[in-house]
Amino acid sequence: MVVEVIRYLNPAPGKVFVDATVGGGGHSYHLLQVEPNIRLYAIDCDSTSLQVAIRNLSAWRDRINFIHANFVSLHQLVTEPVDGILFDLGLSSLQLEDPQRGFSFRHDGPIDMRFDTSVPFTAYNLITQSSYWELAQIIKQYGEERYANVIAKNIKQRRPETTSELYTAIVDALPQNYRNKSKVAARVFQALRIKVNNELSNLQSVLPVAVDLLKPGGRLVILSYHSLEDRIVKHFFKSCNSIKILTPKPIVPSATEIADNPRARSAKLRAAEKL
Ligand SMILES: C[S@@+](CC[C@H](N)C(=O)[O-])C[C@H]1O[C@@H](n2cnc3c(N)ncnc32)[C@H](O)[C@@H]1O
Repeated sequence: MVVEVIRYLNPAPGKVFVDATVGGGGHSYHLLQVEPNIRLYAIDCDSTSLQVAIRNLSAWRDRINFIHANFVSLHQLVTEPVDGILFDLGLSSLQLEDPQRGFSFRHDGPIDMRFDTSVPFTAYNLITQSSYWELAQIIKQYGEERYANVIAKNIKQRRPETTSELYTAIVDALPQNYRNKSKVAARVFQALRIKVNNELSNLQSVLPVAVDLLKPGGRLVILSYHSLEDRIVKHFFKSCNSIKILTPKPIVPSATEIADNPRARSAKLRAAEKL
């Protein structure tokens, strides 16, 4: 939904933007192509992704302030009022496809799942240090998975050390004739990832800070990929009386875009303007 993202950010010469989740720099690249006469804060807590963004955006190097940090500290990272802030939440395909990052059961690797590898706490630590009951709650709450209890029990018993072992511990806990075991595994991996990276609490605390940073008329644009995130954004937009909602219903990708990029199927775009 890059076209819609750029349209809602509403670039014009002299404006200042924040890409709070720059990843490999895809959205920022399009923004700078449409309007190179802007200044940009490009933030990501993953130093490997940030290096990719620095390479991909090198043509506009003098217009960009690259920052390796968690967006939860936005008010310390950006100290001037800005015209637009983008959050493209979750993880990138760069991260998903790297076996060493441990985000996917389609590649074997360590059970890591940290966006920021300078933070010591991994998904493996989460699994080993949580009680059975805590793990079941995490899977229930962040994966919305109804087999959470039996899955948590099996994970604690098997003590997996790799993503393949974790996958097997999950699917072996399901009834034998259960269809689409991979979908369940995806939900459990998602739950662990959300917890390890404090994704929902970070989102909840950054939204008011982002609105504070915007100039009157400035835009907040948020792409989310699962219902828990979207719910937080939706409720915040409704409860915040210093913004006007620009998307009464979330914008979703077209069928062509989903066919080109199946990972986009759950994307929802919401945008708002500071009054
Ligand atoms: C969906 S990707 C962004 C892709 C990017 N928009 C692009 O077009 O290439 C999400 C990125 O947000 C980063 N991220 C997630 N939570 C973060 C946080 N709290 N602070 C900073 N970066 C974060 C991840 O490391 C990842 O690189």
